[in-house]
Amino acid sequence: MADAFTLADGPRLFDRLSLQPSDSLLQLIALANADPRPDKIDVGVGVYRDPAGGTPILRAVKAAERILLETQRTKAYLGSAGDARFVELVKPIVFGERAAADDRIVGVQTPGGCGALRLGADLIEKADPDARIFVGQPTWPNHGPLIECAGVEMVKIPYYDTASRRILFDEMMDALKDARAGDLILLHGCCHNPTGADLDLDQWKALTELVSARGLVPFIDLAYQGLGNGLEIDAQGTRMMVEAVDQALVAQSCDKNFGVYRERTGSLFIKASSAEAAGTAFGNLLQLSRTMWSMPPDHGAAIVRTVLDDPDLRADWNAELIEMCARIRSLRARLAAYDERLRYIDGQNGMFSILPLSTDAVLELRESHGIYMADSGRFNIVGLSDENADLFAAAVVEKMNE
Ligand code: LMR
Repeated sequence: MADAFTLADGPRLFDRLSLQPSDSLLQLIALANADPRPDKIDVGVGVYRDPAGGTPILRAVKAAERILLETQRTKAYLGSAGDARFVELVKPIVFGERAAADDRIVGVQTPGGCGALRLGADLIEKADPDARIFVGQPTWPNHGPLIECAGVEMVKIPYYDTASRRILFDEMMDALKDARAGDLILLHGCCHNPTGADLDLDQWKALTELVSARGLVPFIDLAYQGLGNGLEIDAQGTRMMVEAVDQALVAQSCDKNFGVYRERTGSLFIKASSAEAAGTAFGNLLQLSRTMWSMPPDHGAAIVRTVLDDPDLRADWNAELIEMCARIRSLRARLAAYDERLRYIDGQNGMFSILPLSTDAVLELRESHGIYMADSGRFNIVGLSDENADLFAAAVVEKMNE
């Protein structure tokens, strides 16, 4: 029989914790899965779905996995920077071929885009605890927690008005007048999450001018490159801005454009004012990574590297990415054609759009039609199928009419 130990009196460590709300998007996955209705419509979390409603593994990814299974000889550690060849191959996709050799831009592999954002926020806090990040609203619900967990102050500024379905560009520019040199602005490189409303190139240009003139530092979240209007067009704003400024951060993800979501495959790039400063930043990234995840998971990056290093697999990946993008565009066009009030959806990009519905209306649609979208009215366009797209549009329009 075990000895009877005496437990000390006093407050218990874990009793001090308070209940936390579940992450709304992750909770939505569970809610939709638990709904037994066969005709439910899951337009919650941002994953690509094919016409049959599945999220299949891309052909090139499967082929790369087969190659890895046969040829990988070791699982020994790679180090905190992760797979260097992966980072080298992703760099020109993000910044263009010309920037590939720019030694002021350095990168490390991270666990997905989330890891890249968190690592970037930690680096900012380390470099300047007084720096603030200006974040246009609405934004992806995890941006705020990621930034604030790193101890960086977030300043909310306008970005988009859901009711009038327009980007509040002048209001955003105006709010940035409060930023000090060295403050940061978080931008969505393309396929804005949750609104789908991207800046056009003239707006990127005007913003770049303001950012350069005031000494602000862009922190660009590029999680959906290739799913808006193709890899090149989707990177235009990012490339223009990064080229014009002497300091920037880019948090990049392959989770969506390679469909390797659960493999957590991303990278963080830093542009510094000199190669020497970039080298120092790189050393700091390694030190910060080491204290968070030590080393990023390998498998996703090994897949992406294998695909990008093989001309045939790369071509096949490109072809599938173009197909995914085309499917998103055609669903957008279909919704837009359904009703005048949905027409704005066609002018937006990527998986998401936000409907001008109250939270109550969103919950009613969940109850009555089994439509699972985020409480904010954000829905994943590519969660729709050819069969249910019109049913979805009809239910939404009916709610708008109420
Ligand atoms: C989303 O916004 O649905 C995705 O980025 C998934 C996530 O991690 O929230």
